[in-house]
Amino acid sequence: MFFAQVLTLFPEFFDSPLNCSIPKRAIADGAVAVDCIQIRDFATGKHKNVDDSPYGGGPGMLMKVEPVVAAIAEARKRQPNTHVVMLTPTGNKFNQAKALEYIDKESITLLCGRYEGFDERVVDYVDEELSLGDYVLSGGEPAAMCVLDAMIRLLPGVLGSPESAVLDSFTEEGMVDWPHYTRPEVFDGKVVPPVLLSGDHAKIEAWRKEQARLRSKKHKVSR
Ligand code: ADE
Repeated sequence: MFFAQVLTLFPEFFDSPLNCSIPKRAIADGAVAVDCIQIRDFATGKHKNVDDSPYGGGPGMLMKVEPVVAAIAEARKRQPNTHVVMLTPTGNKFNQAKALEYIDKESITLLCGRYEGFDERVVDYVDEELSLGDYVLSGGEPAAMCVLDAMIRLLPGVLGSPESAVLDSFTEEGMVDWPHYTRPEVFDGKVVPPVLLSGDHAKIEAWRKEQARLRSKKHKVSR
């Protein structure tokens, strides 16, 4: 079983997406366990504060270093070989290769921040900083959920057919999938490419390869 942990102030964020479709089945079948750790449980002091204003002034609040580092320590205690990933817009860019790299590990811990970000000293306690893309989310939770979803569907036995994950877009570096069609044959005057109805498997494979090549080229240009 693969062990995923999420350090968050909002564990309830994950209830619904983990209770749907493929992640739900993967958890029920024991392919993955996802445990949320509430960062607030590690706050000290009368008010259990997890945020504070930045030194030097400026708008917004930062997550305090102590409760975050204590929550990371708890995650490492529960899963000593866990790879701790901090979600931040300034981290390494997430992609399919990263998802494949993560599922090869015993366990992953995703650290989600809120407010304007983390106290920079948190960086010394994580193994990696990861970004979903060049935009700012209101917290790390939606990014962590995307990472979880991308990983879970790649775990052995999770997808119906073992080929599905192998044939995914991006499994081969920089390559995207070919276009897919299902019934009806004609929709709003748009027809399914006739080769797909030909029954000629060699021709179909050649067409798909060429379409994937063209789309990958287009995808690269628009990136
Ligand atoms: N937290 C806020 N924005 C983020 C992003 N783009 N990726 C990962 N974590 C984030």
